[in-house]
Amino acid sequence: MKGIILAGGSGTRLRPLTSITSKQLLPIYNKPMIFFPLQTLLNAGIRDVLIIVAPSNAGDFLKLLGSGKEFGCNFSYEIQDKPEGLAQAFLIGENFLGGDAATLVLGDNIFEDNFSEAITTFKSGGRVFAKEVPDPERFGVVTFDENKRAISIEEKPEHPKSNYAVTGLYIYDNTVVEKVKTLQPSSRGELEITDLNNVYLREGTLDVAFVAGKWFDTGTFESLYEATQFVRERELAKT
Ligand code: TTP
Repeated sequence: MKGIILAGGSGTRLRPLTSITSKQLLPIYNKPMIFFPLQTLLNAGIRDVLIIVAPSNAGDFLKLLGSGKEFGCNFSYEIQDKPEGLAQAFLIGENFLGGDAATLVLGDNIFEDNFSEAITTFKSGGRVFAKEVPDPERFGVVTFDENKRAISIEEKPEHPKSNYAVTGLYIYDNTVVEKVKTLQPSSRGELEITDLNNVYLREGTLDVAFVAGKWFDTGTFESLYEATQFVRERELAKT
């Protein structure tokens, strides 16, 4: 199992904070944001990590994270020239993956959960994680049947059919690259992860599990602030 952190994007909602740096380098209390998704991969036992960044601040990521030796793992880097969607990560990472399964985590997602069991028990297909949220229209929204099996996933629907958001950690088997190659860009010009999840869903191989602990998508001022408060409380509780 290899890991990918997707840390490009434009961060327009966090301007002017993101006018001079990348969103994923902004502080969450005492650490740069990207440390948190990185720790999520490390806690799950992943030691080979590809970090995908936008061209503008690529050198800063390298300066911050280096070879990975300090973290006991190997980092590779790739540049995403334009923010053409989350699923593009697998095309950019095709050589890095070399036919292995992959866990993708978004560089601005902070999870309390430990995913080691979900990753070690993963065999094939896709596995994603849902969480009940008050603002599902910001996310991919998943609906379930009475047995809690996923029946549909819609990207940022105007009228969400449930309150369950698909969170930013995705586990896929080694068919992911060929599946992404069949996708067409959406109306916003992106290769959508929701379209990829729907390929697995239609194939009957998408497992939708649940996030038990806290989860933050730190793309807005409000969520950035909440995540900072959460991390601060967790850090203070340690002392
Ligand atoms: P978003 O928060 O959807 O997009 P963004 O970071 O560009 O922010 P905004 O909407 O405010 O302009 O992206 C989620 C995460 O995925 C974030 O960590 C950035 C990353 N991302 C990429 O690396 N490449 C992409 O093509 C996209 C769409 C997002």
